[in-house]
Amino acid sequence: MRDLFIGVMSGTSLDGIDVVLVEFNEKRVQVHHAATTPYPNGLRKKILGILQQPQISLQELGELDVAVGHFFSECITSLLASSSFNANEVIAVGHSGHTVFHKPASPNAFTMQIGDPSTIAAKTGITTIGNIRNMDLALGGQGAPLAPAFHHWYFATPDESRVVVNIGGIANVSILHPKQPLIGFDTGPGNTLLDNWSLLCRGKPFDNNGSWAKTGQINESLLALLKTDKYFTAVPPKSTGLEYFNPTWLKNTLQKVQENLADEDIQATLTELTASTIADAIDASGADPKCVILCGGGAFNTVLIERISVLLPDAHIKTTSTYGIEPQWVEAVLFAWLARNRLHKKPGNIPTVTGASHAAPLGGIYYGL
Ligand SMILES: Nc1ncnc2c1ncn2[C@@H]1O[C@H](COP(=O)(O)OP(=O)(O)O)[C@@H](O)[C@H]1O
Ligand SMILES: [Mg+2]
Repeated sequence: MRDLFIGVMSGTSLDGIDVVLVEFNEKRVQVHHAATTPYPNGLRKKILGILQQPQISLQELGELDVAVGHFFSECITSLLASSSFNANEVIAVGHSGHTVFHKPASPNAFTMQIGDPSTIAAKTGITTIGNIRNMDLALGGQGAPLAPAFHHWYFATPDESRVVVNIGGIANVSILHPKQPLIGFDTGPGNTLLDNWSLLCRGKPFDNNGSWAKTGQINESLLALLKTDKYFTAVPPKSTGLEYFNPTWLKNTLQKVQENLADEDIQATLTELTASTIADAIDASGADPKCVILCGGGAFNTVLIERISVLLPDAHIKTTSTYGIEPQWVEAVLFAWLARNRLHKKPGNIPTVTGASHAAPLGGIYYGL
């Protein structure tokens, strides 16, 4: 049987769900088919609603969980229909669910992703691995970021230090040093503040290629104020989300600025915030990498990438496409890889990254029929 898996990713940007059909071969991954499907408007609104105001009846939460499971199933089925593969050739689906609550640092730490895996297994007939973050939390970890384990498996080399930077709604880095333990953590906001500000001021869900930010000037005093947030200097392991870096976080700082700033200057400053907190995190790691590999939707923001290149003058900035995976599919491939590890009883987490007491296979198995 071929080593075929499907990975499903719904990231914090809520731009849509990414589904990939991949084949593993030794240390290689071939993405045979991939698609992003935007959430239907009603479903997106409901998810946004509980993210902004986490008050919902148990019935509504249960129904939303299953509705998202149905939507994921439809996306998987339509990817398969457009491919040359059948459901019975796919070993398993690994899916991220969509995070609606993530509280790793509380007495009964928990994380909640919606997109019922039983529904996916029943509708697609494919064995589904879901609730992937829970075991890491149960072992005292942050449950995030999970990407560094995959980045290490796929991109690490004994010849050079590399850093993989995933710029989704939140940005995370994996420091792959040939002689040091893997470090990986969320650096802070990736695209989320840029997307929100663009939507608020221009009604556009994101700043295409950073062209709007390009028309503005970076405001150094706003940048300095934003960077006083303690998250940026906290020592890893650390992870964050939209419950922290959100429009309210930005508003609280904007209120402290005396000058009247143009909207595009704020966008330019937020772009610099993302670029410089990524560069600072890499500098602080002491890895001195010659090779920085970008992925996630932010890898398409040319202004953001230009700024990262300027702030890390010694590094070659590339994207994951140089290594065979297009930037927008890396996170979905990660969930396919985690599902494969789960079935092989191999760990999916790395304790130095998440803070868990042990490495463990991650996720529950929901067998297909
Ligand atoms: N051409 C582009 N120019 C600027 N930003 C882009 C472009 N393409 C994608 N993005 C950004 O990438 C985001 C989606 O990235 P993604 O990796 O899917 O994030 P998440 O994992 O949070 O869903 C979009 O919301 C947008 O901010
Ligand atoms: Mg996305």
